[in-house]
Amino acid sequence: NMVDKGNHRHFMLKEIYEQPDAISHTVSHYLDLANGKVKLPAKLPFDFKSLNRLTISACGTAFYAGLVAKYWFEKYARLPVEVDVASEFRYREPPMDADGLALFISQSGETADTLAALRYCKAQGQHIASIVNAQESTIARESDIVFPIQCGPEISVASTKATTAQLSVLASLAIAAGRQRGTISEAEEFELVDMLAKLPGAITKALASEDKIDQISHALSKADDVLYLGRGSLFPIALEGALKLKEITYIHAEGYASGELKHGPIALIDETLPVVVVAPSDQLFDKTISNMHEVAARGGKIILITDEAGAKSAGDDVSEIIIVPDAHEFVMPIICAIPVQLLAYHTAVFMGTDVDQPRNLAKSVTVE
Ligand code: AGP
Repeated sequence: NMVDKGNHRHFMLKEIYEQPDAISHTVSHYLDLANGKVKLPAKLPFDFKSLNRLTISACGTAFYAGLVAKYWFEKYARLPVEVDVASEFRYREPPMDADGLALFISQSGETADTLAALRYCKAQGQHIASIVNAQESTIARESDIVFPIQCGPEISVASTKATTAQLSVLASLAIAAGRQRGTISEAEEFELVDMLAKLPGAITKALASEDKIDQISHALSKADDVLYLGRGSLFPIALEGALKLKEITYIHAEGYASGELKHGPIALIDETLPVVVVAPSDQLFDKTISNMHEVAARGGKIILITDEAGAKSAGDDVSEIIIVPDAHEFVMPIICAIPVQLLAYHTAVFMGTDVDQPRNLAKSVTVE
């Protein structure tokens, strides 16, 4: 392998720290910063305006990136989005109308289920697009158009920089879709593009909470189960946080939409269950505060990932706070991906697991 860890103890940490550069590289490919516009490849084989549906299929972390994208495309482009894990999508024979775009997200471009979902959609006459890191991969070859991510090879089994780079591409595409469909103005496009341009700086700031996260991880390593909660576009980041923790620490973790707490998972809560809440101070923050109150009233220990304003209004229910830089809700899922990665990483290092090569997992799942 030509890539080495440099000064880092693990590839995962190296790749976590490569994110400001990876994102800056990725977005420079999709944004015309001088004019505050998204730039798409010249020969786009479809146009967002005439689409009636976007169907996203992927596996694992790439699926969670697709879930975030659903919030973006529906909000900014008013385009209906269906997202499913590729292993379910490929076998349920979903009906697909003409004028649909099917989008596949895969770091490796070789994931068996994602490829099978792609072939199904092709047979259904969909436009086929993919977001891949490996440009020479099968998924890239079989797509009508490939939106590359520009993050360099990812070695760690637990995906980090590929995920945030995928999210940056998806965010750029959602803006482009909004402009083509007339659901965002030129001025709004300018503002959203500016937020993506500033993302590398925000990611660098988010990385600065590493020491705090390292301390918190010592207590987290004692848990048998951890619950992650989030709302809106942060719900998929809660799912991602739980997946990262499971993958590299082998601690059981579940991600839930905060609003689902009362519909089941609240029964689990006692003093032994840490609850990681991913919640910047948005319009729904009051609802999250009441969820946290319900957790604290049952002795649950809350680790809150939020911005300065969220930290001020969180109250006494919270045991630990990890601060992320202030930013618009559009880019918050990308920023909040950083602390959940670091939390899993430091917990794994403290526990002494094989961070880059966790048991039972392969970097690319090329068989079912
Ligand atoms: C991420 O940390 C995982 N190792 C895994 O979920 C991964 O994202 C999934 O297997 C999809 O892989 P792909 O992006 O190469 O298709």
